[in-house]
Amino acid sequence: MISYLLEPTLTTSEDAQQVGENLIIAIDGPAGAGKSSVAKALSAQLNIDRLDTGSMYRAVAAAALSHSVDLHDFERLVALSRGLEVTSEGRCLVHGEDVSHALRDPETNTAVSVVAATSEVRTILVALQRSWARNRSMAGVIEGRDIASVVFPDARLKIYLTASVEERARRRSDEGAASILRRDQVDTSRTASPLVLADGSRELDTTGRSIADVTSEILSWLQ
Ligand code: DC
Repeated sequence: MISYLLEPTLTTSEDAQQVGENLIIAIDGPAGAGKSSVAKALSAQLNIDRLDTGSMYRAVAAAALSHSVDLHDFERLVALSRGLEVTSEGRCLVHGEDVSHALRDPETNTAVSVVAATSEVRTILVALQRSWARNRSMAGVIEGRDIASVVFPDARLKIYLTASVEERARRRSDEGAASILRRDQVDTSRTASPLVLADGSRELDTTGRSIADVTSEILSWLQ
């Protein structure tokens, strides 16, 4: 079992093509599917950086909560998104304030779905994610919900991880099954870049499999 566990306005596929691709490994899937564990292992084995895009949406949500921003006030969410910076150690700063400690708070778990459904926020964070990859000569492991479908449709490898609901809830026992299922429902049914199995993505069920096993299968696809 798997143990548990930046410049604005561009989102067209033409922009994505300008970005090009080299060794981008895109990993999508619902909460608890094993994305972070597998992304960390791939990043270590391939010696390339990893970007957890969920933490970027979480950082905007956490900053909004800490400044009592109305989650439906998209202009203020946009202002917070423009202030987001992910450090080389993976810490999330919003206008210089480190919000990393609040990323997994229950309030953030609830607020992040609203923030992530805001298309103006997505435009800014997608541009940051492409810029992150350009700064690494298009080599990196990037995990999220829309990485293969929107951010890097031409990634070298596109992976969609899944696992049974029971196992996902076990892996995210701190959050609880009800909250995970609610987020899944919002993430798959929203209008802005919903979680989908993208064209060309390989689906991999991690239920009952070790991180090492899943990682070595993915590495074999790179041969
Ligand atoms: O991977 P995570 O559970 O930390 O993601 C938190 C939320 O952010 C998740 O409910 C959906 C959203 N998200 C998104 O919409 N797009 C991404 N690329 C990554 C995460």
